[in-house]
Amino acid sequence: MKLGFIGAGEMGGAIIRGLVKSGWPKEDIAASVHSQEFAQRVTEQCGVYACTDNRRTAQEADIVVIAVKPGIVPQIMPDILAAEKKPVICMALGWTLEKLQAALPGWPVVRIMPNTPLALGEGITLFAFGENVSAQERQAAESIFARIGKTVEIPESLFDAGTAVSSSGPAFVYYFIDALAKAGVAQGLTEKQAVTLALQTVVGAAKMVEHEGISPAELAQKVATPGGCTAAGLDVLTTMGLDEALDKTIGATVAKAQEFAKK
Ligand SMILES: NC(=O)c1ccc[n+]([C@@H]2O[C@H](COP(=O)([O-])OP(=O)(O)OC[C@H]3O[C@@H](n4cnc5c(N)ncnc54)[C@H](OP(=O)(O)O)[C@@H]3O)[C@@H](O)[C@H]2O)c1
Repeated sequence: MKLGFIGAGEMGGAIIRGLVKSGWPKEDIAASVHSQEFAQRVTEQCGVYACTDNRRTAQEADIVVIAVKPGIVPQIMPDILAAEKKPVICMALGWTLEKLQAALPGWPVVRIMPNTPLALGEGITLFAFGENVSAQERQAAESIFARIGKTVEIPESLFDAGTAVSSSGPAFVYYFIDALAKAGVAQGLTEKQAVTLALQTVVGAAKMVEHEGISPAELAQKVATPGGCTAAGLDVLTTMGLDEALDKTIGATVAKAQEFAKK
């Protein structure tokens, strides 16, 4: 199955790198980008053919993947429409199935929301399918992203909430790691020590949540012996309102995603 990426920046590039790492044949992935210079970089970094000819990319692909910024999508639609009808997967924020179906009438369209850990095979991709997508096309679309992480089909009405948690989520987790490390530095650790400790703790804790089969809240309570030092720290986190801060963070992210959808 040949994939044609239109756009291969932060997100498109992460997906291509993840797919190549997963063993997807490099010759079955092509990308087109805006500048010749960047096309060369994509070929060097991902090992796949890259050009600036969107029509060629759309023509030669079995499935087209749109990975340009939301505002660029209208510009590239005529290039896709010049090809014969085929499944089109779009990850552009705010590009609802309704908008995609209006731009590509009668085409099988799939809305997704991936995240950058796909580059390492540890991503998660949200899916919503348009009405013209066959069962076989659904399966094909999901199987691409299942190679590089988890896939979840959710009602489209929940896409903005999902986007905030899993697609913007990595940035919030990076911020947490950074803040945890900085707090360690403030207590005398070197920056290198603090970052190593904070990073491996987040990796290990995430794996514990995955494997222990109890909720993260219960795990936190299990680690915190009453009257002990972890409990003293958790008390401060609760009092200072990490829950509230995250609630507002996700709320602001959802509100911004909703603005994009209205454009
Ligand atoms: N970044 C994330 O974490 C993330 C997560 C989920 C979804 N998304 C979605 O993914 C999409 C891409 O985001 P990004 O962060 O990857 O953006 P980005 O890094 O700016 O990449 C955009 C890509 O589009 C290319 N491009 C621009 N104009 C083009 C045109 N006319 N024809 C073909 N290619 C063109 C750019 O090529 P040049 O480099 O040559 O200009 C670049 O390769 C967005 O719609 C975003 O909503 C991003």
